[in-house]
Amino acid sequence: MSLFRKKPIAAFEADMKKSELKRVLGKWSLTAIGIGAIIGGGIFVLTGTGAYYHAGPALALSFIIAGIACVFAALCYSEFASILPVEGSAYAYAYGTIGEFFAWIIGWGLILEYAMGSMTVAVSWSGYFNKLLKMFNISLPDWLTQDPGSYSGTGFSMNLPAFLIVLFVLSILLRGTKGAAKANNFIVLLKVSAVLFVIIAGAFFINPANWTPFIPDVAKVMEGDNVKEAYGWSGVISGASAIFFAYVGFDAVSTQAGEAINPKKDVPFAIVMSLLVCTALYILVSLVLTGMMSYKDFDPKGAYPDAIKAPVAYAFDIAGQAWAGYIITIAATVGLISVLMVMIMGQSRIFLGMSKDGLIPPIFSKINPLSGVPDKNLMIICVIIASVASFTPINKLADMTSFGTLFAFTMVCIAVWVLRIKEPNLPRTFRVPALPVIAVLGILINTYLMFNLSVGAQLLSLSWLAIGIVIYFIYSRQHSKLHNITDILPNGPDFESKDFE
Ligand code: ALA
Repeated sequence: MSLFRKKPIAAFEADMKKSELKRVLGKWSLTAIGIGAIIGGGIFVLTGTGAYYHAGPALALSFIIAGIACVFAALCYSEFASILPVEGSAYAYAYGTIGEFFAWIIGWGLILEYAMGSMTVAVSWSGYFNKLLKMFNISLPDWLTQDPGSYSGTGFSMNLPAFLIVLFVLSILLRGTKGAAKANNFIVLLKVSAVLFVIIAGAFFINPANWTPFIPDVAKVMEGDNVKEAYGWSGVISGASAIFFAYVGFDAVSTQAGEAINPKKDVPFAIVMSLLVCTALYILVSLVLTGMMSYKDFDPKGAYPDAIKAPVAYAFDIAGQAWAGYIITIAATVGLISVLMVMIMGQSRIFLGMSKDGLIPPIFSKINPLSGVPDKNLMIICVIIASVASFTPINKLADMTSFGTLFAFTMVCIAVWVLRIKEPNLPRTFRVPALPVIAVLGILINTYLMFNLSVGAQLLSLSWLAIGIVIYFIYSRQHSKLHNITDILPNGPDFESKDFE
């Protein structure tokens, strides 16, 4: 039986008709879901690393390059969402075009983006929450805020805030998508206001001299005990990989297509709109930050050794506006809740799609008729996310989230092109302009960024994919619903989707 067997487009359509999910999301709620997932800790934390170890003041250019890589992928996601508005995102798109084996690998890779992303976000949330408590002179003991791998003391320890925040998010998600979307809208309003605040208030403290030279000459910098090359155009490009995590999330919109009121039009709109809004905000924040502080001041061995850990708050501190740091801490603490909410929701919908297709057990596709959400699926995912986040040093592996995302982006760019060739006449309410140029550029940029991530993250991610391949051959291949369809197909196993039309 072929590894390339595909799920017929007609079968997707039948799934959509049978879907028990509730269609409650309009165009702006979907856009807010995108922004909710994108703006998180990344912009407040990674900008210092991007400026000091990579691009200098040209960090804004790194944000533009990463933004362009995302826009190419976003356009490809949008075309797919306009044809197959189903919950499985890149996994489903690949299943309809490239074939089951690749769809499985992509679905398995998406766990790095969504579930692992949620784990690292839960740990960052715990960090911000502790900071917030300290603002009120409350300190939790180390054994309650650190996983056993990071704890230096003896005896029991766990990251309790990380555990509890995941359960809190679960309680919101179990009540239904409409309520979750309302909570998300509120949080998005708050965090966009905080980012605008940083841009507007920070603009008053810009010293244009900090922007010259805009692209500093190539130089050696010390990262820990290692010598590293930074700056120049190569620094701008490696900076794009370093800050890529800040963009992770917009594709979560595509996982909500099964709950959109008008998915074929609104999902493409929301994907592109949320990405454009965040790209514009990110470019402005990076310009303001590198204007407020010289990129050289982020040197961990320099005058401000902690600036690189919380660059935006620090820039205001140095400008004598320490109170701004409080606003940023509050915004990040609340803002990360919506990143977590959207990522967990996204993971549950991808598993829902994979389970409907038989590739993972059926418990993941049971929908609670009252709330209209896959409740058991959500519970299983959240228990795993909460446990790993609170008992392992998972945040050290955050780069694997970027790998999973870039991998999915690359695959979607390939799949959209394949489908254009194989099914040129399918009705599309959104078409990627200038295909295949956009798809090819998307594939090149996203692959390049993927292989610019740390070697450790690449090797671990590839090992993760290898585990997925084993599971596919042990379980998924045998349980695939397509397995039975191919058995009864008159044309044999290598059917094409048009056989079903
Ligand atoms: N883009 C999200 C963040 O920066 C994941 O936290």
